[in-house]
Amino acid sequence: MKISVIGTGYVGLVSGACFADTGNEVCCIDIDKKKIQMLEDGKIPIYEPGLEQIVKRNVAEKRLVFTTDLAAGIKHGRVIFLAVGTPPGPDGHADMQYVFKAAENIGEYINEYKVIADKSTVPIGTADRVRDIIASRTALEFDVVSNPEFLKEGAAIDDFMKPDRIVIGSSSRKAEEIMRELYAPYVRNNHPVICMDIRSAELTKYAANAMLAVRISFMNEIAGLCEKAGANIKKVRDGIGYDSRIGMSFLYAGAGYGGSCFPKDVKAVIKTADDYGLDFSILKAVENVNNTQKLLLVKKFENYWKKQINSGKSKIKSLSDLTAAVWGLSFKPNTDDMREAPAIEIIRRLQQLGIKKIAVFDPEAAAEAKKTFGTSIQYCKTDYDALKGADSLFLMTEWMEFRNPDFEKMAALMNHQVIFDGRNIYDKEKLLQNGWFYEGIGIGQSDFI
Ligand SMILES: NC(=O)c1ccc[n+]([C@@H]2O[C@H](COP(=O)([O-])OP(=O)(O)OC[C@H]3O[C@@H](n4cnc5c(N)ncnc54)[C@H](O)[C@@H]3O)[C@@H](O)[C@H]2O)c1
Repeated sequence: MKISVIGTGYVGLVSGACFADTGNEVCCIDIDKKKIQMLEDGKIPIYEPGLEQIVKRNVAEKRLVFTTDLAAGIKHGRVIFLAVGTPPGPDGHADMQYVFKAAENIGEYINEYKVIADKSTVPIGTADRVRDIIASRTALEFDVVSNPEFLKEGAAIDDFMKPDRIVIGSSSRKAEEIMRELYAPYVRNNHPVICMDIRSAELTKYAANAMLAVRISFMNEIAGLCEKAGANIKKVRDGIGYDSRIGMSFLYAGAGYGGSCFPKDVKAVIKTADDYGLDFSILKAVENVNNTQKLLLVKKFENYWKKQINSGKSKIKSLSDLTAAVWGLSFKPNTDDMREAPAIEIIRRLQQLGIKKIAVFDPEAAAEAKKTFGTSIQYCKTDYDALKGADSLFLMTEWMEFRNPDFEKMAALMNHQVIFDGRNIYDKEKLLQNGWFYEGIGIGQSDFI
């Protein structure tokens, strides 16, 4: 089948490449000339494991092309996917300008029947708006369907190729059949294609992300209680996660959720509910907990070091004498995406406290970090380089290479053996035995909250 994808970002590029890999002829369109030039030069603008091989294979087989030419791109596809960004607007509603601009383009260049499939995460009623925009520019027949995307950055190829389910919201039998045909190769494992009305499909995506965010904030609040009352969140997780009604996923306490989806989608659901006169109080609480959680580690850092300074026994005389190291910048492992990453908040707050030297290492996200922090922090070539002369280490992203480091080597490099672990990946008992100060999230009583 001939397919066009408007928007060649994390979702559009992965979807386009994966659709091409099952034999479709795919044209990926973007208004970002630099991005399309990179792709045409054989470079992948984002880090996503496995993506480069799939893109190269399908470009070589001439099943995958890239263009900034909207007219040609739109004419190409029988199905046109919208995969443009829907970032939060100033008031928290999803900013729909990119979706509506793409719809205008489709209205201008449509040349025959097409299915417009919305993969961007959009508020209820968007398909109706998109249909109206296109219909005001053409008399040709077309259908608009909602086809929310559930892939996870860092595991996007696997998620796309073997989805738990495909959701299609459609009011047209013809469009539904075309979408079913397109997705048939991806659901051979008998995972379902769930067809429903368009509004339910639009809401499904938001409901899924909001539910996951609820679980994270819930566990973070339980972790807070653990720190007050002297319990261990890892044990509590095991204790509840084996309950089949609860399950183990998304039960990790940590430095708060980030990324391009959860924060904006939680905001958007709150705003959409507001529009319908509904106070979505659970999600407001989820957002508040998350905002506090993102700064928890710096609060512990501040309290720990103030205690050392006030004791008069430390060589450190003020917070601004301290040097901090940060391992991990991306909002989760296996991606270079730093949108709303907790590491950003931590670094900003450290800078506000007057910490002059902040040395960071991330296997993939340094280039992204430079866009936010410029030369105000020090980018290191290895994780150990970042530790030289550091008084504290913040572990912010659980990349595999951080999981089992050489603690003796770390102790020799650092000024003080102090770790703030935002992902609870280290063994507190072992570290304490070996002379470290360790604070995770919800791992026993804390005197530093
Ligand atoms: N990133 C994820 O993990 C993920 C997962 C599921 C769903 N989503 C949703 O998918 C959508 C896209 O997310 P993303 O992370 O891929 O965004 P992104 O910012 O990585 O990519 C969006 C792309 O669209 C391009 N674009 C904007 N307007 C355009 C236009 N008029 N014509 C052509 N191209 C245009 C931009 O230049 C950019 O390259 C969002 O609604 C998001 O919520 C994202």
